[in-house]
Amino acid sequence: MNVEDIRERLGLSRVEFCHEVGSTQDAARTLSASPPYLVYARRQCKGRGRMGRSWLSEEGGLYFTLVLEPGPHNLYLPLISAGLILDKLSSQVPGLNLKWPNDIYHKKGKLAGVLAEVWQHRLYLGVGINVNQDWTETAVAMPATSLFMLTGRMFNLDGLMRDMLGLLMQGAKNLSAEGFGYFHPRIREQLISSPQPVRFVDEGREITAKLIDIDAEGNALVENEQGKRVTISLPHMMGER
Ligand code: BTN
Repeated sequence: MNVEDIRERLGLSRVEFCHEVGSTQDAARTLSASPPYLVYARRQCKGRGRMGRSWLSEEGGLYFTLVLEPGPHNLYLPLISAGLILDKLSSQVPGLNLKWPNDIYHKKGKLAGVLAEVWQHRLYLGVGINVNQDWTETAVAMPATSLFMLTGRMFNLDGLMRDMLGLLMQGAKNLSAEGFGYFHPRIREQLISSPQPVRFVDEGREITAKLIDIDAEGNALVENEQGKRVTISLPHMMGER
C-alpha cells in the first residue's frame, strides 16, 4: 500500500499503517500528529464497537480510524458517515440498509459500523467494514455479512479505503459548514425506506423497537412492543459528556 500517496491525496498529516493492532481507536490516541490523520490496520485483536461490544476484525476487513478536530456537530458524524458509506456501497451492492444510529445491514447481516469517540480534544472516527471475509462455512458470534458474501467478488481494500476516507472527510466538512439539516432529508429517506429495528438501553435493559421516523436532530421515534411511541436521543459519544 502506498501510504504517502494516500496521505498526500487526502491532505492528511500522517498515515500509520499496521498489519495488526489492538484497536485502531487506541493506536490513534498514542500517535503524535495533528488532525486530520489516519490509522489503518489489516486486522485488530481488540476491535471494539458501541455499547462495549467487540468488533470481529480478522484479515480481509477494512478497519481504520480517522482523527479529526472536534466540532459542534460531532454528535451527527457517526450517523451521517454510515449514510455516506451506505450510498457509496449501494452502487455496487443492492439491498443495503441503514440502521439507526450507525450501522449498515443487509437483511439480518451486519456489514459495517461506525464508532466515534472524543478524547483529549480530538475526535476518533472509527470505521469497520466486512469486505473479503467469508463466513459461509463458519458460525460467527453475531449475524454478519461481507461485500464478498454479497457479491461473490473480492474488493481492493486500499482502493475502498481511499474512497471511504475521501467521502468522510468531505462529509465532515459539509457537516461543520451546513449542520445536520443538510444531510437530514437523505438520512431520513435511507432510514425509513426500509426501517430496521432500533436497539437501545432503557433502565439497564436492552430493548428492541420499531423505527417510525427520525426528527430534525437525528433522534429516533420508535414504537415498542406495547404500541407505545417514544423518542430515543441520538447517542452521545464516549468521552464527550
Ligand atoms: C459498531 O458497530 O458498534 C461500530 C464498530 C466500529 C468498528 C471500527 S473498526 C476500526 C475502529 N477500531 C475499533 O476498535 N473500532 C472501530
